[in-house]
Parts: sequence; structure tokens; C-alpha cells
Amino acid sequence: MPCKVLADPVNFLYRSAETTDRNPMLGADMNIRETDSADLPLIETLYPVAFPGEDLLPLVRQLLGGENDVLSLGAMEGGRLIGHVAFTVCRIAGADVTVALLAPLAVDPELQRRGVGIALVEEGFRRLRSRGIQRVVVLGDPAYYGRFGFEPDEQVLPPYAIPEEWRTAWQYVDLNEGKTAERAVGGRLTVPPVWQKEALWLP
Ligand SMILES: CC(C)(COP(=O)(O)OP(=O)(O)OC[C@H]1O[C@@H](n2cnc3c(N)ncnc32)[C@H](O)[C@@H]1OP(=O)(O)O)[C@@H](O)C(=O)NCCC(=O)NCCS
Repeated sequence: MPCKVLADPVNFLYRSAETTDRNPMLGADMNIRETDSADLPLIETLYPVAFPGEDLLPLVRQLLGGENDVLSLGAMEGGRLIGHVAFTVCRIAGADVTVALLAPLAVDPELQRRGVGIALVEEGFRRLRSRGIQRVVVLGDPAYYGRFGFEPDEQVLPPYAIPEEWRTAWQYVDLNEGKTAERAVGGRLTVPPVWQKEALWLP
């Protein structure tokens, strides 16, 4: 994680794709809303099934524990939480640009490839934009995140050095229709303590 939790963020999605049937229809009664502390038990059941090889619960609990500036969205369907995404507001050292880190993102494996992940990310972008956030960064599979406009980030450094083979996995998107990108943006992403663990950013 951010999306490194996957042993290899660049290849993980391709592997899953081979084993997942696509249902093109989003559930008619799905809605996306901000989660609160009462949703934590539902969120705690989602992550172990979405990330069977990784224990993200300590991270997720700390992230949603109330001490971080986090936009936490849940996709709800029939009273179930079928997907979740978090965006953590961060800073870029030395730059006057508002930025959020996308991570983690999870969809119930039984309900993947129906557009739930896309709906969560796009709703997150809308809400972040209305909060004045200009830029979103992610460490994840370019094949998935490219559809949202993410591109390799060669201006802002990640909090920790990431392996060369993951260079294209460190990406950004400008929520401000290119206007932010026109300004000089440089420096290193400054993350809150919950993300200040090198192991979260390394293989
Ligand atoms: C990655 C993840 C969040 C995607 O959510 P989703 O709801 O299944 O994805 P969506 O249906 O919104 O996305 C649809 C598109 O993304 C791509 N996609 C979605 N899941 C994919 C997968 N597992 N592998 C490859 N491509 C995938 C497809 O191309 C698809 O559209 P297309 O066929 O029309 O091109 C979900 O698979 C998941 O929870 N995976 C496990 C956890 C994880 O890896 N999280 C991301 C890193 S934090």
C-alpha cells in the first residue's frame, strides 16, 4: 500500500482479472456515502476478503480512527458494505497544492468488475474537488488507475523511496482540469503518522 499491500501492485490486478467474471451492471440500489464509526465492523469484514494475503486491518482502523483528515466512502447495497475507499489529506513539502492520497480501495470479491471501484473513486474525486483538493496521488496499478486520468508522477516524490520497477505505479491526477499541473509542483509528499511506516511503501 498504499496499494503496495499487494506484493506487486503492477501485476496484481492482471492476475485477479483472470479469475473474475464481469457483470457489467451496477446494482440499482447501490449508493455511496461517507462512512462513520458505526460502519467500522462492516469495513473490518470487507478488507480480509478483498486482501486475503495481507492484514490491512491495523492500518484501516488507525486510518479511520478519527485522528486523520480522511474522506472515507462506502458503497452500500441492500444494507451491505460492498466496497470502500479512503483518501487521506496530505501535504507536499514546499508546495502550495492541496493533495490527497488514495488508499486503500477494496470491493467485495463476489461483486467485483461491476463498476463499484470506479464509482467509489469517481465519487471521491467529486467530493475532494468540492473540498478544494487539487491533486490525488496513488501507488497502484497504472492499468487500473489510468482510466481515472492518473499518470506517473515525476514531480512529487513519494514519502519513501520506492523500487525502480514500481516507478510507473506512483501516479497523480489533477482534479483541477490541468490548472494545478501548470504550476510548479515539486517536493515530497508529507503523510500523517498512519502512513509513516516504510514497510507500507516497500515490497
Ligand atoms: C481493484 C478493485 C478495487 C477494482 O474494483 P472493481 O469494482 O472490481 O472494479 P470496477 O468494476 O470498478 O472496474 C472495472 C474496470 O477496471 C478493470 N478491472 C477491475 N477489476 C480488475 C481486476 N481485478 N483486474 C484487472 N482489471 C480490473 C477492468 O478493466 C474493468 O473495466 P473494463 O473491463 O471495462 O475495462 C477490486 O478488484 C479489488 O478490491 N481488488 C482487491 C484489492 C485491491 O487490489 N485494491 C486496489 C489496491 S489498494
